[in-house]
Amino acid sequence: MKIDMNQKTLILGIETSCDETAAAVVENGTIIRSSAVASQIDIHRRFGGVVPEVASRHHVDQITVICEEAMDKSGVSWGDLDAIAVTQGPGLIGALLVGVNGAKALAYAHCLPLVPVHHITGHIYANRFVRELEFPLIALVVSGGHTELVHMKEHGSYEVIGTTRDDAAGEAFDKVARTLGLPYPGGPEIDRLAKAGKPVIDFPRAWLEEGSLDFSFSGLKSAVINYVHNEQQRGHDLNSANIAASFQASVSDVLVKKTLIAAERVHAKQILVAGGVSANSAVRTEMEQAARTRGIPLIIPPLKLCTDNAAMIAASGTIGFLKGTRADLSLNGKANLAIEDF
Ligand code: KG4
Ligand code: ZN
Repeated sequence: MKIDMNQKTLILGIETSCDETAAAVVENGTIIRSSAVASQIDIHRRFGGVVPEVASRHHVDQITVICEEAMDKSGVSWGDLDAIAVTQGPGLIGALLVGVNGAKALAYAHCLPLVPVHHITGHIYANRFVRELEFPLIALVVSGGHTELVHMKEHGSYEVIGTTRDDAAGEAFDKVARTLGLPYPGGPEIDRLAKAGKPVIDFPRAWLEEGSLDFSFSGLKSAVINYVHNEQQRGHDLNSANIAASFQASVSDVLVKKTLIAAERVHAKQILVAGGVSANSAVRTEMEQAARTRGIPLIIPPLKLCTDNAAMIAASGTIGFLKGTRADLSLNGKANLAIEDF
């Protein structure tokens, strides 16, 4: 479907799929006028992970304040907005419902169209703040709940050509971190620790069958857990930094190689990396090196746009708005929403 990419837009985005309550105003899909994020990480840390009921309750506390903050900072009035975009899914259902209901109330009160957004398309569109997208492209989406290779032939078109068969990459980081006694969320902790270590332990890499673009991280996760238990049983001191560096090298090796295979297969003009794990320093460095070697332009969002935020939801919502995607007040959150439906 042809869309008019020159149309001027001002979109308020709302995101509450996990443990960040966020709202942002984005102009023309590429300029962040404001972005407000209330993170619950400190609240969930003492439980070792996100507690869905606790997350929902905090979203309820924060949603109005965060939307007002985003509007105030943007210098935009409600009447200037073209639409409200909201994450419909996937995510924690109780958390999603807070954002969806907040967005419905605001859309109704201000007579604005409502645009539902798939969370993963938001992560992908965080890259459009860095540079204009060129198609076809391959996006590697790596977050706490997702590991997917997405082929995009044009704006707003998504084909999943590889996915994880078990754990998501971020989930593997979080579980291995827990085994090493590191706090939640484990990804940034492993990243930090790995800088002090060397990838000297030969942990497995799941390449799967010839030509497969799917991923699997549960074998690697078990290998690390077994290694830790064996070392403890033998009374050896754990070298956590080397374990972190070796685990991280194994994850990033598979992510980078499969992304490059996918990019060459579809003759991609760009490679995009998106989601919380794209903040990982090994993934960033190795992807940059591999893409440069093959001569394929690479975009990775700045760190603050890698993790959940609402600017990315407004950016993806801009494309939905231009395509004519609309929801009415019967819109519901959907925990396992499929990207192909967008
Ligand atoms: O995209 P995101 O903020 O939320 C989801 O949609 O899931 O991703 C969160 C995930 C967590 O698993 C976290 O541990 C991981 O991203 N993460 C990292 C890093 N920063 C965040 N993993 C590895 N290295 C990092 N630097
Ligand atoms: Zn996310």
